Amino acid sequence: MNFRLDYRNVLPFVSEREILSLKDKILKADKQLSTGKGAGAEFTGWLHLPSKIGKKELAEIKKLASEIRKNAETLAVVGIGGSYLGARAAISALSKDSKLGIVYSGKNISGQEMEHQLACLEKRDFYLNVISKSGTTTEPAIAFRMLKKLAQKKYGKKYGQHIIATTDAQKGALRKLSDQEGFRTFVIPDNIGGRFSVLTPVGLIPIACAGIDIEALVAGAKAAEEFCAKKGLKDNPAFLYAAIRFLLYKKGKKVEMMSSFDPRLRYLTEWWKQLFGESEGKGCRGIFPASCTFTTDLHSLGQYIQDGERQLFETFLVVEKTSKLKVQSEKGDLDGLNYLAGRTIDEINLKAYEGTRQAHTDGKVPNLSLIMPELNPKTLGELLYFFEISVAISGYLLGVNPFDQPGVEAYKKNMFRLLGKG
Ligand code: PA5
Repeated sequence: MNFRLDYRNVLPFVSEREILSLKDKILKADKQLSTGKGAGAEFTGWLHLPSKIGKKELAEIKKLASEIRKNAETLAVVGIGGSYLGARAAISALSKDSKLGIVYSGKNISGQEMEHQLACLEKRDFYLNVISKSGTTTEPAIAFRMLKKLAQKKYGKKYGQHIIATTDAQKGALRKLSDQEGFRTFVIPDNIGGRFSVLTPVGLIPIACAGIDIEALVAGAKAAEEFCAKKGLKDNPAFLYAAIRFLLYKKGKKVEMMSSFDPRLRYLTEWWKQLFGESEGKGCRGIFPASCTFTTDLHSLGQYIQDGERQLFETFLVVEKTSKLKVQSEKGDLDGLNYLAGRTIDEINLKAYEGTRQAHTDGKVPNLSLIMPELNPKTLGELLYFFEISVAISGYLLGVNPFDQPGVEAYKKNMFRLLGKG
């Protein structure tokens, strides 16, 4: 296991005895999950996905990625929610090369953003990876219609070569359209919901296109599949995290702030918010997932966290291995910074984390830290799978179905009525 869960600063609020007393409930939730007897069991295909992904599937994705990297300057990833956040999280965290630009489209209904993306893509060689499990989601469908037109204009009869669709094996408008137009397709398995799909072609295609080692990512998730199968409460970080969150929730801590000190993790926290918000927030229950990127947000939301309503607990995401960039010494020390000379920027950042953790503990914000030695495909793969297992256990502890999302339909119904959809 390449990360550790430090929960020292939770203990003033939740005792070790209380944590241990949850063991039976946790094991019951785990049994619901592993025996497929819990609510939503038909959507637990992600559970053993890391150990099941075949070499052939990864090789096919890598082959496609090298074709795209060779022939295109930009890849437009067209999708929303679970059909885009996992890829964006991994790419923002790990991408080091700028050989292929990645544009995220179809994640909102902004005419201005669409105009801008169309203008940029017109000048570049591009591929489209349109991703939609249902194949009918309005946001990516609108964007795809426009980008497809642009591809037709730019590449003529060969435009289909530039389009890869990731969708259901049989159902939905995107499947129908792809079959009719002869687009290359990859399948989103029936038993995996959008927010759990990062290790399917939904996430793996864009991630591989960004030049990231998808084999290492999957290997990390596979390692987590093993350590998250342990049955001891203290040996299994997912059990421990789920137990602590549940106890804090019961004590009135209704908001979890995921705070990272590394801007590369910003979209990981966006992915985490969807995973936890959509899985837990139902039946008038659930912890509200929020996120901050520090130290930036210490200069805005930091005030509230330190001193506002005491309804929060915090989970820090910390990366230990750091860049070697150092603060220089300056003659005269007019800005008073010579006391930092010779220290790395990231060493200063780690001190900011320690200082914040202490301040928030003093301010009565229970906090946990998920500490990674370094950020690489393997450690990220571990973390992604750890969060997936944690939220499944958390959902069952709360007594909700962690795998459906009935609430997301309400706005759509109204919007379709207002637009006169037949
Ligand atoms: O997690 C989910 O199920 C959702 O966020 C979906 O991924 C999102 O609504 C997009 O749906 P689709 O892939 O069907 O276009």
